[in-house]
Amino acid sequence: MLELVDVHTYYGESYILHGISLNVREHSVVALLGRNGMGKTTTIRSIIGFTPPRRGVVRFKGKDITNLEPHQIAQMGIGLVPQGRRIFPSLSVQENLTVAARNLGKPETEAWSLDRVYSLFPILKERANLRGTLLSGGEQQMLTICRALMTNPDLLLLDEPSEGLAPIVVKEVSHVISQLKESGFSMLLVEQNLAMALTVADYTYILSKGEIVHESTPEELEKNEKVKSTYLGVSKNDNRGGNGQ
Ligand SMILES: Nc1ncnc2c1ncn2[C@@H]1O[C@H](COP(=O)(O)OP(=O)(O)OP(=O)(O)O)[C@@H](O)[C@H]1O
Ligand SMILES: [Mg+2]
Repeated sequence: MLELVDVHTYYGESYILHGISLNVREHSVVALLGRNGMGKTTTIRSIIGFTPPRRGVVRFKGKDITNLEPHQIAQMGIGLVPQGRRIFPSLSVQENLTVAARNLGKPETEAWSLDRVYSLFPILKERANLRGTLLSGGEQQMLTICRALMTNPDLLLLDEPSEGLAPIVVKEVSHVISQLKESGFSMLLVEQNLAMALTVADYTYILSKGEIVHESTPEELEKNEKVKSTYLGVSKNDNRGGNGQ
């Protein structure tokens, strides 16, 4: 579904990604873990064309998308749930969803619509006429995810969806991600929260200073105390991850 091969990305003269390679298979959830400032968001920006790589290749559904414009990449079916839950504050929940609605060729029975979003997440229906900013943190995260669904993507990129949420709410968001996985989505989940990533991911990568320093199944990562403490700041029997959640 998504493949990065030896991706090198810069901001001006700052050399940030030093040759990232990773794969997201169809219908799978891949977690990209790493502490603050390690290059997680830059990886997402490299995929979606906001900060195109200077070297290397990004392929989506077998096509080279490395030098396409961001809008072309989005139209091919990549949806983004940005870091920091950027909902539109002056719009209601329903308006936040409808403003994003776009369907480029999916049969109507398969496409995401308001009805389908509301049936999967009834709480958003209850809140339909409230301003997005009046929702709780967890509900706002759900809204941001659903807003991305309304663009009818085949692959979702989620940038730290658990950031700033209480542990119980993180569980809700994990549940949402699991539900989406069951409905067939492929996802690249960027996270600092190891426990959350381990519950939903099929495969994990760890990023440190712009390089992939570890990749394995979640089971192997969970057992690897050295990797967890070196790269994620997690001590034994504590999977909370570097941001203390
Ligand atoms: N627009 C920019 N211009 C220059 N340097 C940047 C820019 N954005 C990020 N950086 C630098 O690139 C490096 C990687 O940043 P990035 O945002 O990818 O990290 P991250 O892993 O997403 O961190 P966090 O968990 O805090 O979101 C950091 O050193 C950061 O200071
Ligand atoms: Mg980031």
